[in-house]
Amino acid sequence: MKDLSDILLHYGEDRQQYFNAVCPPIIQSSNFVFSSIADFRKALESELDQHIYTRGNNPTVQILRKKIAALEGAEDALIFGSGSAAIAAAMIGNLKTGDHVVCVQSPYSWTYNLLTKFLSRFGVSHRFVDGKDMQAIEAAIQENTRILYLESPNTANFDLQDLPACATLANKHGLVTIIDNSYCSPIFQRPIDMGIDLVIHSGTKYLNGHSDVVVGTLAGSRAQIEKIFTSEYMTLGAIISPHDAALVLRGLRTLELRMHRVDKSTKIITDWLSTHPKIERVLYPFHKDFPQVDLARKQMSGCGGLFSILLKAENIEEVETFFGKLNRFTLAVSWGGHESLALPFCAFRKIPGRTDTSVPWNLIRFYIGLEDPDWLLEDLRQALGSFELGS
Ligand SMILES: Cc1ncc(COP(=O)(O)O)c(C=O)c1O
Repeated sequence: MKDLSDILLHYGEDRQQYFNAVCPPIIQSSNFVFSSIADFRKALESELDQHIYTRGNNPTVQILRKKIAALEGAEDALIFGSGSAAIAAAMIGNLKTGDHVVCVQSPYSWTYNLLTKFLSRFGVSHRFVDGKDMQAIEAAIQENTRILYLESPNTANFDLQDLPACATLANKHGLVTIIDNSYCSPIFQRPIDMGIDLVIHSGTKYLNGHSDVVVGTLAGSRAQIEKIFTSEYMTLGAIISPHDAALVLRGLRTLELRMHRVDKSTKIITDWLSTHPKIERVLYPFHKDFPQVDLARKQMSGCGGLFSILLKAENIEEVETFFGKLNRFTLAVSWGGHESLALPFCAFRKIPGRTDTSVPWNLIRFYIGLEDPDWLLEDLRQALGSFELGS
């Protein structure tokens, strides 16, 4: 593997091309000119590598592509305007009418929608399986299955899949393996090293890390990237702007530092919460009581800032009282930025027309950001003290 600090701080940046500036310029240009027909013809031989038009390849975005590929140990990468676009392009690029996808159960909501509402319109079928169970995965594979889609850990229930075992199984059946690696970031998990084909990130989370850009990444073999580039990437045009790419490049400078800070703080906070009498359970893959902790420690080198608690509350009102007392966590979707968040799942109840009750009402998902963990603990301590058990 290339040196991690070199990838984040220098790799892919050819400073002599831009006045030896230490930071790459934002090449805010849609178009690139050619001095001769011969030069133009040469560029057309590989639009993926040359600069012709920014929907395909822009110099600022290309630096990001190089860094993402290196971080994942991949041959090449593409950068999209969102994680969802990266997921859709990777799937569509490897499917045709009549094909079948095996996907882990409860994937990210828009991945679920892609399979159930979008691809189904084009004759692609799917089966959701318990990804914890290798036999269930194998049993779901049909003659027309083309993709095994993974999320490990899942960002709602934190289920893991055994990645080397999935890669072996997929090879046996000739399937393309795709993983959403957003939970870990490439700092804590490198699926390609374990035999997975394509790695996706909602770079909106850790990769950018400052809650100011929506971005998606896709890394894999040169053949896969070329295939998806010439079809889905260029056709759908779901690109990132050069300006946003520059922000992500800046975010990457501190990726390693941020991941370790978040990981350390979350361990302190989850250890404390798991002994509190008002907490029924802490769900965190690196917590000693997590059912798949051994697998998590085997294939991940860290865990990051996302976990859930089940509050020992008697009713939704008690959860709301607790939540209302939290001052240093804000209610929001997403995660992976600088700011700590809390998402109480009771918020999805009592919404007219919404009937999904699969997630317990006393579950609260937390994301620990870059704040001082003691300062966050102080807030959790006072909020947990705000209601009596069974009041
Ligand atoms: C696990 C996971 N994957 C993919 C996505 C989609 O990424 P984006 O919002 O960047 O499109 C999200 C967004 O929340 C996510 O949490």
